[in-house]
Amino acid sequence: MKTVTIVGARPQFIKLAPMTRALRAAGDTDIVVHTGQHYDTNMSDVFFSELEIPPPEYHLDVGSGTHGVQTGEMLRKIEAVLMKERPSWVIVYGDTNSTLAGALAASKLSMKIAHVEAGLRSFDRRMPEEINRVLTDHLADLLLCPSDTAATNLRNEGVMGTVEIVGDIMTDALRFAKEKLALDHSIVRRLSMRPGEYLLATVHRPENADSLRRLTELFEVFAELRLPIVFPVHPRTAHMIAVHKLIVPDNIMRIEPVGYLDMVALMEYAKMILTDSGGMQKEAYWLGIPCVTLRENTEWVETVASGWNILVGTDREAILKAVSEFVKPDSRPELYGDSHVAERCVLALERYRCDQEPFTHQV
Ligand code: UD1
Ligand code: UDP
Repeated sequence: MKTVTIVGARPQFIKLAPMTRALRAAGDTDIVVHTGQHYDTNMSDVFFSELEIPPPEYHLDVGSGTHGVQTGEMLRKIEAVLMKERPSWVIVYGDTNSTLAGALAASKLSMKIAHVEAGLRSFDRRMPEEINRVLTDHLADLLLCPSDTAATNLRNEGVMGTVEIVGDIMTDALRFAKEKLALDHSIVRRLSMRPGEYLLATVHRPENADSLRRLTELFEVFAELRLPIVFPVHPRTAHMIAVHKLIVPDNIMRIEPVGYLDMVALMEYAKMILTDSGGMQKEAYWLGIPCVTLRENTEWVETVASGWNILVGTDREAILKAVSEFVKPDSRPELYGDSHVAERCVLALERYRCDQEPFTHQV
């Protein structure tokens, strides 16, 4: 079986790692297309080298831009690759502009689309990710879901494709990282942090990072927490801090984005995680670290229901209360599968595979 996988942003490289291993182990040919949405070394290359992902067969160098420019340029360039490669499946991950461009390009060529991490919903259409998810799910032929909730969301929307619950592929990525990491948590020492005595924070959602008011409020409340905070700064947020010459409080240690292994090490030894990241809410849960989510809603509702994740937005009182009063629940039931998710995805791809010649328009 020949697949074309479209990736472009940090979390997608992490999801790609186990999938590409499983595809290659099954003897399949996986052609990887990197759109170039993320391009700094520590937003892209570091994940390929650390997670042992072979270099992408195609690099489209699309780079940054407005949603229309970026997605449009990807659409144009992905189409050319798909017409040349003619895969059995086009695989897309998550909810970025690279995801939507890949799905749209494939659908116009009548190629089969598999969406990994299908069915997630925040029900907040102001988020660009929500638009990308909904559209991709309605274009996809095979919808690979991390949870029952995701599958229910898809049924409620009446999607046309086949819905399969396989679990969350990030459990595979985390397991690989933990095995590779072994006992190397040296980043914690290098940053002069003591295990269990620092907070780890990330902020990159446009509603937080692009709002001077919300970002300033977050820094103010972070200062009030009076604990050391390790803060790997996403380039979107770094840009905002630089343009507005924002003062970052002394207890916040700003660092460049880190590779996945260092990130897992930082998460494992943190007292608590404060984040607006989607992926980190789950990683916090799997690692048994309390998570305070700097958003009003989440797609990963099970982490909140379990008591390990609290939604606070940027509300000062809510953040202070969540951090000072967090009580770890007694149990942490298995969520989003038990790893080996990539293998289940590959089996589903094989099962629903259909190698008919894709219909192509004459122009
Ligand atoms: C994107 C995804 C988001 C995902 C996030 C993961 C969309 C709409 N958003 O958001 O869902 O959670 O990736 O991190 O697809 N930049 C750099 N260097 C880079 C990459 C970006 O400097 O390597 C800067 C550019 O100024 C760019 C800005 O960051 O304009 C935002 O990048 P972009 O990829 O558009 O969106 P993200 O916020 O990264
Ligand atoms: N991550 C990382 N280095 C960092 C910040 C995040 O490796 O400096 C990892 C994080 O552990 C998670 C993924 O990147 O696996 C999440 O990416 P991000 O928060 O950018 O996107 P989202 O999950 O919100 O789409």
